[in-house]
Amino acid sequence: MSCSFKCFHFPIIIFMLHVFTTTQISSSTDDSSFNNFLDSAKSSEVFDWMINIRRKIHENPELGYQEFETSELIRSELDKMGIPYKHPVAITGVIGFIGTGSSPFVAIRADMDALPMQEMVEWEHKSKVAGKMHACGHDAHVTMVLGAAKILKQHEKEIQGTVVLVFQPAEEGGGGAKKILDTGALENVTAIFGLHIAPDLPIGEVASKSGPILAGSGFFEAKISGKGGHAAIPQQSIDPILAASNVILSLQHLVSREADPLDSQVVTIGKCQGGSAYNVIPDSVTIGGTFRAFSKQSFNQLKQRIEQVIIGQAAVQRCNATVDFLDEVKPFYPPTINNGDLHEHFVNVAVNMLGINKVESAMSPFMGAEDFSFYQEVIPGYFFFLGMKNAEHERFVPSLHSPYLKINEDGLPYGAALHASLAASYLLKHQQDIVPGVERKYRDEL
Ligand SMILES: *[C@@H]1O[C@H](CO)[C@@H](O)[C@H](O)[C@H]1NC(C)=O
Ligand SMILES: *[C@@H]1O[C@H](CO)[C@@H](O)[C@H](O)[C@H]1NC(C)=O
Ligand SMILES: [Zn+2]
Ligand SMILES: [Zn+2]
Repeated sequence: MSCSFKCFHFPIIIFMLHVFTTTQISSSTDDSSFNNFLDSAKSSEVFDWMINIRRKIHENPELGYQEFETSELIRSELDKMGIPYKHPVAITGVIGFIGTGSSPFVAIRADMDALPMQEMVEWEHKSKVAGKMHACGHDAHVTMVLGAAKILKQHEKEIQGTVVLVFQPAEEGGGGAKKILDTGALENVTAIFGLHIAPDLPIGEVASKSGPILAGSGFFEAKISGKGGHAAIPQQSIDPILAASNVILSLQHLVSREADPLDSQVVTIGKCQGGSAYNVIPDSVTIGGTFRAFSKQSFNQLKQRIEQVIIGQAAVQRCNATVDFLDEVKPFYPPTINNGDLHEHFVNVAVNMLGINKVESAMSPFMGAEDFSFYQEVIPGYFFFLGMKNAEHERFVPSLHSPYLKINEDGLPYGAALHASLAASYLLKHQQDIVPGVERKYRDEL
């Protein structure tokens, strides 16, 4: 165990001795229910039902804040299970409740939105909506939280508190998590768990880490204005294409020359639009991109310098530039930072359920971003990756956001069972923290 055990618990260990013993006993009953959860999730009753739901959602992908039918499907399944919920929360969001209805509260989260892209996989349940696809696996995320709900509902009497099911809109750039938080619906939640499918991780395996796991992310768009004219008479024009070229090159020097090489950062220009004829200098060029960093300080520094470089470098070529950070439509996502205590909890639960060699507990962080980080800014939170590797994909594994992504539905039971176990055992563990009389009661019984 970590230093926090020695430093913090040691002085009170005498008083806590009986409680610890009790915890040991209850966590061993716990262990057996971890295994039961996976068995339940793999039973054809739950598994076939999940596959059916996932395929329905996959066929009908909806973009951020437009997940009306997905939301309706979720509510109709919750109704069938007799699970109460709040709706609408943040436009299409649904928040369900399983357990006692009182504290402690623990949340499990799924995002519901799809991407504006055309599915290229030919299969029976291909997206029926042209130009929209569940290419980030959020169809599976919704399904797995519903799967967890089904399992937990069967054990509702044993739940020592309340599991809050969070079905949120608009993870892909829209910051749906922030909107959910703004409604106050999660104000009494003391921990939140979320997962993402990983198409390159084998079925039955999980990966995560304590601390920063995904980067903070922001977007920008800049308009560089010059003066259009004839391509053969450049002296009468102010060329925004040349200015934009220099801007793009200068932006690449921010990470290479100004950032600490050991503090990972990214600046990528993903959009560059200007001009439409071979022999015309256009009036303006629009560029856009994203920037990533792991700390708020680096993120803000990068943001400030991006603006300065664009305006300054455009001015060198006599152009004017305006920079828009798109905060309204694409809010900045903070870095995803996993809580240390919840990391221990996750590793215990996952190792119990999957075995020690199936749990990568020190994965490398990467520069992707998740709006799950908004929850983590106000609630201790934990995010992990779940194996969904498709055996058909031997050599070429399509990544998330690939039009060829085809997840392996055999991963669904693992996600459902992990969600259920993480939540139920969290409540069991935190029962004593919340209800002051409980410790005494256990001590008397022993
Ligand atoms: C949170 O708890 C307080 C105090 O018990 C209660 O008044 C409030 O309604 C709760 N909020 C939610 C969203 O359940
Ligand atoms: C840049 O802005 C200034 C001040 O508004 C204006 O005088 C100038 O013409 C602009 N230059 C270009 C190239 O748009
Ligand atoms: Zn995505
Ligand atoms: Zn995603």
